[in-house]
Amino acid sequence: MQVFWSVKGGSGTTVVAAATALSLASSLAGSSRRVLVVDLSGDLPAVLGVDGSGPGVADWCAATDGAGPEALDRLAVEVADGLRVVPRGAAGWAGADAGRVVELADHLGSLGGGGETVVVDAGDLFSLVPPVGPPTSLVGSLADGADRSVLVTRACYLGLRRVGRVELRPSEVALVSEAGRALDRHDVESVVGAPVTVRIPVDPAVARSVDAGLLARRTPRSLLRAVAAAS
Ligand SMILES: Nc1ncnc2c1ncn2[C@@H]1O[C@H](COP(=O)(O)OP(=O)(O)OP(=O)(O)O)[C@@H](O)[C@H]1O
Ligand SMILES: [Mg+2]
Repeated sequence: MQVFWSVKGGSGTTVVAAATALSLASSLAGSSRRVLVVDLSGDLPAVLGVDGSGPGVADWCAATDGAGPEALDRLAVEVADGLRVVPRGAAGWAGADAGRVVELADHLGSLGGGGETVVVDAGDLFSLVPPVGPPTSLVGSLADGADRSVLVTRACYLGLRRVGRVELRPSEVALVSEAGRALDRHDVESVVGAPVTVRIPVDPAVARSVDAGLLARRTPRSLLRAVAAAS
């Protein structure tokens, strides 16, 4: 499992999670493995250009009828060959039940052994607290059990100040790099205490592709190259 999260809105978390899932799915083409990308934060279907208006993972966590893992599987929407997305669901996290949240974390954790690679967009942990954001316990247990727990950040002083104020510690950092910043990757690594394993240049082609809902069909090469090496 690979979990992507940030401590500041607009860092690029959803784009990095989506690009990682796309890159993994294309590298696994021809094998029996598939990629399931799970949206805890609400934007992934739009970024991937699919309809995410149906019920999602937060609704599964709010269900009182004991719906099992197969019901969760039915929520997944096809994005491309070997890649499906489970939307968050329009109602958000307000109704999530603590016991169901534990079940969800267990189930997603078990999928890796069953031929499915799970990529999670956990969103901004600093400001999106429940009931708007996903339960902290869910993100914590997914990240703890993950092969990669990736903080997505810019080389932004205000963002880096927040890193110490969240409990989660990443195993690595995806740095979305803009020209002209005073801080560099070494500053980021020393504040965060984890290596920068992905460097994604800010590229207008990425923003254009996201705005057009075409990231999945016309993924900019700069983005695929940036995430491919580490995933
Ligand atoms: N590498 C990039 N180059 C250019 N624009 C980018 C890049 N990555 C993200 N963006 C743009 O920055 C904006 C924020 O990206 P994104 O939604 O992925 O951030 P986020 O961290 O998921 O935000 P939120 O906290 O709202 O979930 C979007 O308009 C997106 O198109
Ligand atoms: Mg996002």
